[in-house]
Amino acid sequence: MHVSWFGEQHRAGLVPLVQDVAGTRGAVGWLSVPAPEEVDAWLTGLLASGARLAVAVEGDRVLACGAWRRHDAVVLNAVAQIKKVMTHPDARGRGAGRAVVQALVDDARADGVEVLTLDCRGNNHGAQRLYAALGFVVTGRRPDVLAVGDERFDQVLMHLDLRTGPAGLCRHGSRNEGPGAT
Ligand SMILES: CC(C)(COP(=O)(O)OP(=O)(O)OC[C@H]1O[C@@H](n2cnc3c(N)ncnc32)[C@H](O)[C@@H]1OP(=O)(O)O)[C@@H](O)C(=O)NCCC(=O)NCCS
Repeated sequence: MHVSWFGEQHRAGLVPLVQDVAGTRGAVGWLSVPAPEEVDAWLTGLLASGARLAVAVEGDRVLACGAWRRHDAVVLNAVAQIKKVMTHPDARGRGAGRAVVQALVDDARADGVEVLTLDCRGNNHGAQRLYAALGFVVTGRRPDVLAVGDERFDQVLMHLDLRTGPAGLCRHGSRNEGPGAT
């Protein structure tokens, strides 16, 4: 198994990955199994948005994937979000998820991203443990906002601060100072 960046040769392999994760109720945003065309449309939109998509591959199979993308808002452009991290149900526990997320972190850091964010379903303790093992910390929790039918789950917000020092930044935190202070 090795991790690489998405290439067109991986497109077909992402369909069974997404379908089987969605089919086993994996918390990645699909509430039913998407048709191949839906997976394709998601992928096309993701790549068009400037996201970087990592895949863990074994032979012809895509075992896992995950993406990062900067936020659009100009004041959040140094912040990027990790999304759609998933490992095929029959390939779990072999380090594929960790390898994908580590590749995303390394790539975002090399691209100058200052902070990486992500969110998890409250009951997804396995994913939270994976992110925590890579240094992510919980920064907030929106209680019972994620809807799966009539079930509600916390949205757990996590982040990884990639800044290593002041680097010319003037950090105000929440003090009443600087542009926009009231
Ligand atoms: C979460 C997920 C991506 C983990 O993928 P994986 O390839 O099985 O993870 P890894 O084998 O790389 O595990 C790395 C670490 O994550 C943690 N972890 C992963 N799955 C876990 C689980 N079910 N329970 C507890 N810890 C878990 C462990 O700390 C593990 O390290 P260890 O093996 O040294 O204990 C996978 O379970 C998945 O695809 N789930 C469905 C989709 C999903 O929830 N995606 C995340 C959305 S935020």
